[in-house]
Amino acid sequence: MSFANRAVIVTGASGGIGWALAQQLAAQGARVGAIARRAEQLAELEQSVRMTGGTIATAVGDVGDREAIHAAVRSLTEKLGPIDVMIANAGVGVPSGADPMQVHNVETMMRVNFLGVVYSLETVLPEMLRRRSGHLVAISSMAAYKGLPGSAGYCASKAAVSSYCEGLRIELRSRGVAVTTVCPGFIDTPMTAKNDRAMPFLMSADRAARRILRALERRPAVYDFPKRMRFLMWLAKWAPDRTIARQIPAGAIPRE
Ligand SMILES: NC(=O)c1ccc[n+]([C@@H]2O[C@H](COP(=O)([O-])OP(=O)(O)OC[C@H]3O[C@@H](n4cnc5c(N)ncnc54)[C@H](OP(=O)(O)O)[C@@H]3O)[C@@H](O)[C@H]2O)c1
Repeated sequence: MSFANRAVIVTGASGGIGWALAQQLAAQGARVGAIARRAEQLAELEQSVRMTGGTIATAVGDVGDREAIHAAVRSLTEKLGPIDVMIANAGVGVPSGADPMQVHNVETMMRVNFLGVVYSLETVLPEMLRRRSGHLVAISSMAAYKGLPGSAGYCASKAAVSSYCEGLRIELRSRGVAVTTVCPGFIDTPMTAKNDRAMPFLMSADRAARRILRALERRPAVYDFPKRMRFLMWLAKWAPDRTIARQIPAGAIPRE
């Protein structure tokens, strides 16, 4: 499936992976709907897409606020028509260590990373089911595969996204709506810019967006990339705790 002439919403499009996805989708001829909280960055994105002849509409909204995200998607649908693809990409990474427990950060990540995906998919799924056509995409993370020290809350929020989307995907089999979970490794974005730990196989946001869009054309159930990082996570899954603790003393996954 190509994205030309498709109406595609990207949440978290004001920076990082979402920005790159929105730019590349517009370049491929999609009608792009972009959502984020920062109006200024959205206006910048809009200008840069329009300058290259792309079609884009933007809406300010917090994905963790159910009413706000519904209002944002309603306003985009009025401009773009029924939505063919929803890419629930918005997310945050903040520390969630054990001593002290950073419960507020865990709450934020569950609200934005997990419920934000649920609310975003909810805005378009009923209409997709009515039309028996559509593609739901959630940007999860390799962090979904292993609880890591210092980042337990982030990992839990992404594991929730992956499990939720797996359940949806199976339930929606034969209803005409595909569900894809994308699990990137380390991507060079504002989210990871403050990481002071090693980030194996770090990839640019542009390259990541290219890989994601190429994969989405096949509508896979899950897309993990890069594969070398997936292999590392597989090793980490079965490694003894003392090995992980030595390798990742305070967490080395995306965080603010
Ligand atoms: N970078 C990585 O290594 C990596 C790896 C695996 C998975 N991921 C996931 O990929 C996604 C994008 O990450 P990124 O690295 O591109 O992060 P980023 O550079 O920090 O960008 C995050 C985007 O999400 C938006 N956002 C954050 N909270 C929001 C909210 N409550 N409502 C609406 N928009 C919100 C931000 O815009 P506003 O601030 O304007 O709202 C921004 O556009 C996230 O889900 C992240 O967990 C990233």
